[in-house]
Amino acid sequence: MKVSNIAALSVVFFISVNAIAAGPMCADLFSKRSNKSNAPSVVVISGTNREGANSLKVAETMRELLLDEGAQVEVLDLAKVPPTTYSSQNYSHTPKTFQKKFDEPIAKAESIVVVVPEYFGSFPGILKTFFDYVQAPLAGKSITLVGISAGKWGARNALAGFAETLTHRKASVSGTSRINIENVESKVDETQVIDADIRKRMKSAAQEIVESMVAQRGEEVPVEKLQKLVTAQIHSEVSLNSGLTVSGTLSNVILNEKNNSVAYIQTSGPTSLKDQYRTHVGQTPDMHKTGFGTPVGVLKNGIRISTLKNPEDIGLIEGERAKLEFSSGVVVEGTFVRSQKSRQGYLQIVTFMDCTVTLNGKFLFRPSWGRFDMGVGESVVQVKL
Ligand SMILES: Cc1cc2nc3c(=O)[nH]c(=O)nc-3n(C[C@H](O)[C@H](O)[C@H](O)COP(=O)(O)O)c2cc1C
Repeated sequence: MKVSNIAALSVVFFISVNAIAAGPMCADLFSKRSNKSNAPSVVVISGTNREGANSLKVAETMRELLLDEGAQVEVLDLAKVPPTTYSSQNYSHTPKTFQKKFDEPIAKAESIVVVVPEYFGSFPGILKTFFDYVQAPLAGKSITLVGISAGKWGARNALAGFAETLTHRKASVSGTSRINIENVESKVDETQVIDADIRKRMKSAAQEIVESMVAQRGEEVPVEKLQKLVTAQIHSEVSLNSGLTVSGTLSNVILNEKNNSVAYIQTSGPTSLKDQYRTHVGQTPDMHKTGFGTPVGVLKNGIRISTLKNPEDIGLIEGERAKLEFSSGVVVEGTFVRSQKSRQGYLQIVTFMDCTVTLNGKFLFRPSWGRFDMGVGESVVQVKL
């Protein structure tokens, strides 16, 4: 019998055998102005190092509006980048302080807002230079641009040009024609945006940013609900935010020790993997006769694999060894074989041979168990019985 994605079940939850409650499964992800660590995280970048920059005032206003929507927000001010960062030796080896203060927040942010001022019909050179030093992967990252100018065009050309440099790095850029702040001097005071109309536009952008982050995550199914399923030992359809559905009997849920979110799920018995209702080729109950296991969550470097269309974006090259480290501590190491995608073309299954999956030194999958089909997804968003 072929063993497939059977995990060493290191954590078992003993819960009273209750019937699985029917009804809505949504969790309240965050409350407004909360400090919850699972609140959507946004980085706002002030796109110049000019002293007294209006960009910083716009960035600070955006921070306030995003906080009002319940996000966690950090403003990165280009004026705070140590000038020594921009050295000829630092292109691929940025200094530790830059990594900590700029690269890491960018990598971890689910969404980024960049305030781009217009300098001579384009965006500031320092903004391009800054991003040339940023090592954080931008692939799949949602980036919203806000343009400001003294003139009447609100930096439209600057935004178009800067957007091109970001899409070259496979970022998902929006807002290039929506938030343009023209005659900026008359719209700000010493510290923030005071113009009511601009604030209104920025507020609706902030709402959209947070809503789309929540939609992308999906409303997480409470962990307790999954644990009850484990106890009940009944067949169910567990869907991840990537749209991948695992159809089988949930036998274990391993939690991320840091935040109690789901780090790994495991089924026992015949299991199939579907993109909504379509079973993926080769992912039938026959293939996964004895069960299926997969990590759930964000990679350690902040990447959400479900936002990607190409395996190369996370360094997966056919026939080559690869290592994926999740923020939960789960590590997947093996030879990349192939990927399978959703109808929309996003990654849903990534397959490895000769693969080891571990968590804190414990084996969840061993090479001798055969092919490892890793499901893609950062959260469990639906359970159907
Ligand atoms: C070097 C430089 C070039 C500029 N070129 C333009 C321009 O081409 N068109 C425009 O409307 N405003 C231009 N401005 C005005 C800026 O858009 C305006 O001062 C804005 O506040 C700049 O953002 P900052 O305050 O964050 O530096 C320029 C300003 C600077 C400093």
